[in-house]
Amino acid sequence: DFLKEAVLIEVGPRDGLQNEKNFIPTEVKKAFIHKLKQAGFKEMELTSFVSPKWVPQMKDAAEIVGSCLDNRRNFVLAPNQKGIERVMETDCRAVAVFVGVSDSFNKKNINKSTRESMDELKPLIGQLKEKGYFVRACISTSFYCPYEGKISEEAVLELCREFAEAGVDELSVADTIGMAVPSESYSLFSKIKANLPDTLLTAHFHDTRKMALANIYAALQAGITRFDTSAGGLGGCPFAPGATGNVATEDVAYMLERMGVHTGIDLDTLVEAVDLVAPHLSRTIETGYYRLSKAE
Ligand code: HMG
Ligand code: MG
Repeated sequence: DFLKEAVLIEVGPRDGLQNEKNFIPTEVKKAFIHKLKQAGFKEMELTSFVSPKWVPQMKDAAEIVGSCLDNRRNFVLAPNQKGIERVMETDCRAVAVFVGVSDSFNKKNINKSTRESMDELKPLIGQLKEKGYFVRACISTSFYCPYEGKISEEAVLELCREFAEAGVDELSVADTIGMAVPSESYSLFSKIKANLPDTLLTAHFHDTRKMALANIYAALQAGITRFDTSAGGLGGCPFAPGATGNVATEDVAYMLERMGVHTGIDLDTLVEAVDLVAPHLSRTIETGYYRLSKAE
């Protein structure tokens, strides 16, 4: 018996926009987020509290948080103590910390080794949990690293266990540079699920090699029901060469709905959200569902 429902976590306002060259006006980002909420998402990544020198696109994070919170699960990313302090100055109640399994990637992304990041984050996760926050941990380079190549499943499992012991509610396991194939997706997600049955598990696929839908199908077979997706297929980490867009929300929602797996996302409204941001992007939207919706 196949599952009946899946949760899509919309990461477009964060992962989708962070890599865009030209600054997207804050009002456009807000309108994008509001339209996405209308499309039915119950969980979203709104923005990130990172260094504006490293990621200038996210420099308006405090303003975005200030006007886009509601009673849904609105995540804000934070990589370190300073980021978490900034979250605590807001009314945001859901934090996403992020670490790479690969040391080389973590250094490029956060300027620390993976161990240094974990040592900094673990007590902070404890404090967040004491204060009642929902905490997700985004685990980058869980399959391949642009600098170190193939990452071992054991190394990913080890980091996942450490985060679970630190008290996170959710693990978002990421194929940062879109290099995994379905057999690897099935294998890793089966093992994490077997090891950590009490932690919410989410799959985060980038679509660099057009494997993301197949990887999602494989993850579904492994029992995963939560997926990070990005409207318009936007996205990419500025510090991971070769990381193009996240898997497109519209294509995942279309596939799942056609399979009888309910997502609660209204595709017409989702296309309207993409239309709001599209004129401000340096790339054209090429996802299957979006293009077909324009051809009709
Ligand atoms: P650093 O230069 O080593 O930081 O950067 P530092 O601790 O030495 O501090 C330098 C300055 O930055 C100080 O300010 C700090 O206050 C400030 P100054 O005294 O010079 O005025 N600073 C901050 N400002 C705002 N927010 C902060 C913060 N921390 C320090 N949180 C740092 C270290 C982590 C800040 C930097 O490397 C950084 O911002 N990195 C973020 C990179 C990023 O955003 N990457 C993309 C998100 S992850 C991703 O996309 C992957 C994911 O999608 C999953 C996947 O696909 O793999 C999640
Ligand atoms: Mg990503």
